[in-house]
Amino acid sequence: MTPPPDGPAGGALQHLYSGKVREVYQMPGGLLLLVATDRISAYDHVLPTPIPDKGKILTQLSLWWFRRLADLVPNHLVDAPVPAEFAGRAMVCQRLSMIGVECVARGYLAGSGWHDYRRTGAVCGVALPPGLAEGARLPEPIFTPATKAPRGEHDENIPAAAVAGLVGADTAAELQRITLEVYRRGAAIAASGGIVVADTKIELGRDAQGRLLLADEVLTPDSSRFWPAGEWRPGRPQPSFDKQFVRDWLDSPEAGWDRRRDGAPPPELPGWVVERTRALYIAAYERITGERWA
Ligand SMILES: Nc1ncnc2c1ncn2[C@@H]1O[C@H](COP(=O)(O)OP(=O)(O)OP(=O)(O)O)[C@@H](O)[C@H]1O
Ligand SMILES: [Mg+2]
Repeated sequence: MTPPPDGPAGGALQHLYSGKVREVYQMPGGLLLLVATDRISAYDHVLPTPIPDKGKILTQLSLWWFRRLADLVPNHLVDAPVPAEFAGRAMVCQRLSMIGVECVARGYLAGSGWHDYRRTGAVCGVALPPGLAEGARLPEPIFTPATKAPRGEHDENIPAAAVAGLVGADTAAELQRITLEVYRRGAAIAASGGIVVADTKIELGRDAQGRLLLADEVLTPDSSRFWPAGEWRPGRPQPSFDKQFVRDWLDSPEAGWDRRRDGAPPPELPGWVVERTRALYIAAYERITGERWA
């Protein structure tokens, strides 16, 4: 059953925002309810076909990580019951004043990082050694922030130095430190499940006391590139547990989609792509947590 947009219990929930993947509600008392739907986005479009259970997998994986990162960075979670109709796919959290910077850490060269490196030899102003191949491991993880683009537009990589101009030098230094610590811890834990975290994006916000808290989702296949460690071979695109599989299908002749043509809506995903994508999300969850997906 689909709940009405303003939620159960006679509208006790106030709908605030529809993201590409999440629906955000305000609960009585001012807390937020972050509901992860089964929507999947790729190339800045929400696809017309949902991936069954994806919202639950993302939520459960984020909850798992928030606990394992709590000594590094406090987070937005509030210990309060989730309304029954959103069981498993929602988090109750503090409403934060979000920092308008996407905090990305990269340990490997992929995606826009690889693209920028090929053109300039650097990523977000961080010069890298010459001759690195696509998918190469970086000498050490780097902070490669991006501005958060309005819906439907690309996030844009910015030099780490520009973050100070946006949020002040002290906050910028904190964002960089926290992002790299979360990446290092996340990569080390995922490695024991045979997963390479090539890169990851976190979002932070400030609470009423001005404390910086980890928000949104963390170290999920939507916010990270996860690669099977055993198949990692620099010099080519890597097989992955994230939505690269969907992106690849969207780029295939079978999809028949010209994503560069303005106004061309993305096609429905065929059943086999939905099934395979769902299996990849579950595999990422199981390998990282070491627990079976119900
Ligand atoms: N504790 C919080 N307080 C306020 N806003 C939050 C909090 N946690 C997450 N958010 C915001 O809630 C929204 C979640 O929706 P969703 O993940 O679908 O976002 P999106 O940013 O539109 O899309 P995408 O993440 O795919 O770029 C985001 O705008 C995120 O910044
Ligand atoms: Mg998001």
